Amino acid sequence: MNIVILAAGQGKRMKSALPKVLQTLAGKPLLQHVLNTALSLQGKASKNGPIVVVGHGAADVKEFLFSAAKEDSRFSSVSTALQAQQKGTGHALLQALPKLDLQEPTLVLYGDVPLTTQKTLSKLTKLADGVRGKDSALALLTQNLNNPTGYGRIVRDTDGSVKEIVEEKDATSAQKTIHEINTGIMVLPTNALNKWLKALSASNAQGEYYLTDVIAMAVKDGVPIRTTQADAEFETVGVNSRDQLAALERIHQLNIANQLMDAGVALADPARIDVRGTLECGNDISIDVGCVFEGCVTLASGTKIGPYCVIRNSVIGKDVVVHSYSHLDGAKVGNQSVIGPYARLRPGADLSNDVHIGNFVEVKNSKIAANSKANHLAYVGDSIVGSRVNIGAGTITCNYDGVNKHQTIIEDDAFIGSDTQLVAPVRVGRGATLGAGTTLTKDAPANQLTISRAKQISLPWQRPTKKEKTLATKKVAVKKTVKKVVKKVAKKAVKGKK
Ligand code: UD1
Ligand code: MG
Repeated sequence: MNIVILAAGQGKRMKSALPKVLQTLAGKPLLQHVLNTALSLQGKASKNGPIVVVGHGAADVKEFLFSAAKEDSRFSSVSTALQAQQKGTGHALLQALPKLDLQEPTLVLYGDVPLTTQKTLSKLTKLADGVRGKDSALALLTQNLNNPTGYGRIVRDTDGSVKEIVEEKDATSAQKTIHEINTGIMVLPTNALNKWLKALSASNAQGEYYLTDVIAMAVKDGVPIRTTQADAEFETVGVNSRDQLAALERIHQLNIANQLMDAGVALADPARIDVRGTLECGNDISIDVGCVFEGCVTLASGTKIGPYCVIRNSVIGKDVVVHSYSHLDGAKVGNQSVIGPYARLRPGADLSNDVHIGNFVEVKNSKIAANSKANHLAYVGDSIVGSRVNIGAGTITCNYDGVNKHQTIIEDDAFIGSDTQLVAPVRVGRGATLGAGTTLTKDAPANQLTISRAKQISLPWQRPTKKEKTLATKKVAVKKTVKKVVKKVAKKAVKGKK
């Protein structure tokens, strides 16, 4: 099967420099949603991948396809056809025609209709199926809408068969009362399409080559026209403006929230969660309000996520508690660990079991072994931390010399006193204690107290006292204030006269 995705339109109403099909829904460009569905539908059987008709912002769209192919090899089968000027949907499809296999049916999708399901599209293609070759059918995905304004209407004969599609701007007032609309998604016999597209004219209200005009041509040629509808309305909703995009985002997020709850996840409020990627959950997970999950996130059984956490590309173990306002990115968290509130785990943070990372603690590219704690205000970067280590408040690994990054090693059972700077590369031996305020520039031996601190001294000291104001300075101050007030009043009086 050929799949063509029309994506050359500008999307003027978005008022954005970004082409409409690259606006994101659930963190992914609209076009990526459509391509994911197209690719899963086409499978490995097809010789050619989907064809995207590009035009407005073509360079950006191509750039996106190029980088998507780097991340997901399936995207390398996607090709593009250029529609230099946007002269309508029929004209757009015409640009892809040379790339189509005339013996296979063609499925037309829109780059700005992101949530059509594979199930619906399979149903649609089956409708045109089995009657390929000479007897190919044309299958239309239609929708009954309470408010059909703006859409092309499906005009049927008295016997119920489809006669034509009439665009809103060309419709008679009687046709405007029709509630069955064209979603734009259709499967066409390609051989006939080749002929029909070349015969299109632009003599209509918009002066465009309408793809929808091929329906009347098909009727004339005796090609059977079949229609079906999607299970849910959101599947055929297109995005033209910011409010439509935001509304579709909420519908999509609510669908994801419902899937999570069906799988047993306790959500404090299904309307207040955003999953921009994939979220895999074990049993008895609870997620409080306002959390955002990006990329691939895995939460193992019994884990609790507090309110307003952002978690990206992370794997979180069993019975972990992530307290509110924590930010995890590219992190691995072991079982029974406690994170936050206000913790930041950056890429390469690899925590073993029962590790505690408290408020305003940042961990980057560091392995922390079991039962270790950094509970307050610390930075642990490019480090290897052993088991049962206690990192005191205000501890900083000074990993960067302005040019290169260096490693800090803290062995098992070390105790790092508060406000310590570990100037990397440096090693703290097993069981070592660092006194508070230490600036460690050389390795600290195991089982000893290492301390670098200015010696504490005490001196006799008389705190200065506040000078009393004399009567003379007080009088001057009063005179100045009186003068100011008099000036102000005089000014006002002059203004009043004017
Ligand atoms: C189209 C249909 C209408 C249908 C509606 C559903 C036509 C003539 N009309 O109208 O029956 O109810 O979609 O949403 O087909 N595009 C191009 N090149 C162009 C014009 C459009 O690639 O020259 C692409 C757009 O990027 C978009 C899609 O085609 O992805 C639809 O275009 P749009 O202008 O939104 O069509 P509508 O007027 O909404
Ligand atoms: Mg549209």
